[in-house]
Amino acid sequence: MNIKLKTGIILIMIAFLSFKSKQETTLFSVPANFPKPAYDFLNNSITPAGVELGKTLFYDAVLSSDNTISCGSCHQQTAGFTQHGHILSHGVNDRLSKRNAMPLFNLAWATSFGWDGSVPHLDFFAVSPITNPAEMDESMANVLEKLRTSPLYPELFTKAFGSAEINNERFLKALSQFMLTMVSANTRYDRYIRNEGITLNPIELEGLALFKQKCASCHSGDLFTDFSFRNNGLAAKDNDKGRFEITQQETDKFRFKVPSLRNLTYTSPYMHDGRFSTLEQVLEHYTTKVEKTPSLDPILIKDGQTGIRMNADEQQKIIAFLKTLDDEDFVKNTLFSESTLISDIPRKNIDAELKNFTVTDASTKALFGQAIEAYLRIKVSIQEKNTLSAAEAARILIKTLNRVRITDTAAKGFFENYQEKIFLDAKRIIEGENFFAHQFDHFDELSEHFYIIVASFKANDKTLYFTECLKSDMKWLSDTANDSFLAADCKELQHKTLPVSR
Ligand code: HEC
Ligand code: HEC
Repeated sequence: MNIKLKTGIILIMIAFLSFKSKQETTLFSVPANFPKPAYDFLNNSITPAGVELGKTLFYDAVLSSDNTISCGSCHQQTAGFTQHGHILSHGVNDRLSKRNAMPLFNLAWATSFGWDGSVPHLDFFAVSPITNPAEMDESMANVLEKLRTSPLYPELFTKAFGSAEINNERFLKALSQFMLTMVSANTRYDRYIRNEGITLNPIELEGLALFKQKCASCHSGDLFTDFSFRNNGLAAKDNDKGRFEITQQETDKFRFKVPSLRNLTYTSPYMHDGRFSTLEQVLEHYTTKVEKTPSLDPILIKDGQTGIRMNADEQQKIIAFLKTLDDEDFVKNTLFSESTLISDIPRKNIDAELKNFTVTDASTKALFGQAIEAYLRIKVSIQEKNTLSAAEAARILIKTLNRVRITDTAAKGFFENYQEKIFLDAKRIIEGENFFAHQFDHFDELSEHFYIIVASFKANDKTLYFTECLKSDMKWLSDTANDSFLAADCKELQHKTLPVSR
């Protein structure tokens, strides 16, 4: 290549780079205490319209087969973008995936994705939850087709990429653009390290020193991970062999990606299968529970003994330090929240699912009446955070609906379909006997499906109301018109009166 041409290309590249970095400064910038990102921004330059499109897609349930699950269903901001209240994540039809949803932040620095690093590049990641039967259970082709025919997306793609063409590459790049902006770097620890006028107290500082000795060989640097795969001695479960499932190398058995330790207060439960719910359990694991298997990381074996030596006082100090890694600004930053979306994602029209049946025989009517009572008891219990009573009422709801016999064939098929959906969520409410957040999450879906049944069969004898909080999508039934359930947090309510049977 001649010299002139070479210099020309270099000059163009410099111009290009400086243009890019100018655009990126507001949407993405590298915190002073972080290393250079691994993501190649030259291949996908971040723009406001690209991020907005990515964010809209992230919160849109149209990405799943039955239009009920969005990326945001499993990656909730208030939970550090994990799934609040869930040990293993729940997808379409409430199917359980075998792993705990990972927190999403600082993805620009990651070198592989997933607990086993099965995906080598952030831009490919979304294909995996979309096509996974236990997650969104949809095909990429279908998703793109739904977006093409939507009233919303052709315009958003035009703003982001200059034309209305909707293809795999654009779709994936937009999602990446949004996820790349999710940087968590404003913890008390960060501000202390960057000398921003924050001090850590003596216990936290001792915790930091202990952490450096005992944990930082794997949870290294200010990202708190070296992005390697290691076996940290968790009691092995054969249904998930971690990195081995990708490489088939014996040495990779039970190795998982070293996770970041930021935002632990929000992301509980911990580990790839959510087996620990507290940091105390995690520290206890490293002290006394590390299991010796052939692939156990050598760092966790010292002088023939497994585990990390720490007394109770040292464990508490390390926990105090870990709490300085909570980034409240990040979990509250409205830039990442659904509430600041510019476009309104078209909402699912539940009423379109209603059918026109009426129950007439007295015993079926009575059973529906009892089911409604049980439902209302679940609701009151959830309002009072009485998890035991909610579980008990959910058991009664299942029992009662199981006794309902519908004879008409079409009506029977319809009833059984929704009955199955109601049972899925009722069972989760029962299993959440000691886990309020889990019950709360499932109450919403339960209410939607119960509404469809009650309204379709005009099964109620007294006036019932169905209310939706338009912003949060939360739904519930009640026997008063202006029911206060959730209303304090929800300004935009939509009420409906359910048809009464005659
Ligand atoms: C049903 C719940 C569920 C849904 C829906 C879901 N995820 Fe996830 N996500 C998970 C789980 C579980 C993992 C860990 C996966 C693994 O290790 O196999 C994960 C991991 C990730 C990771 C890897 C993070 C890392 O640090 O390695 C990214 C990125 C991600 N999800 C993005 C998305 C996007 C984008 C969507 C929407 C297209 C999405 N997820 C939808 C549950 C979900
Ligand atoms: C040999 C490397 C290694 C050392 C040393 C190590 N860890 Fe880990 N840590 C890991 C790996 C790997 C995982 C993920 C394991 C899994 O899910 O299967 C993990 C997970 C965690 C988690 C769960 C995070 C989440 O998001 O689920 C916490 C908390 C944690 N470690 C804290 C510590 C503390 C505190 C220390 C020091 C006392 C420490 N680790 C020492 C490798 C290590």
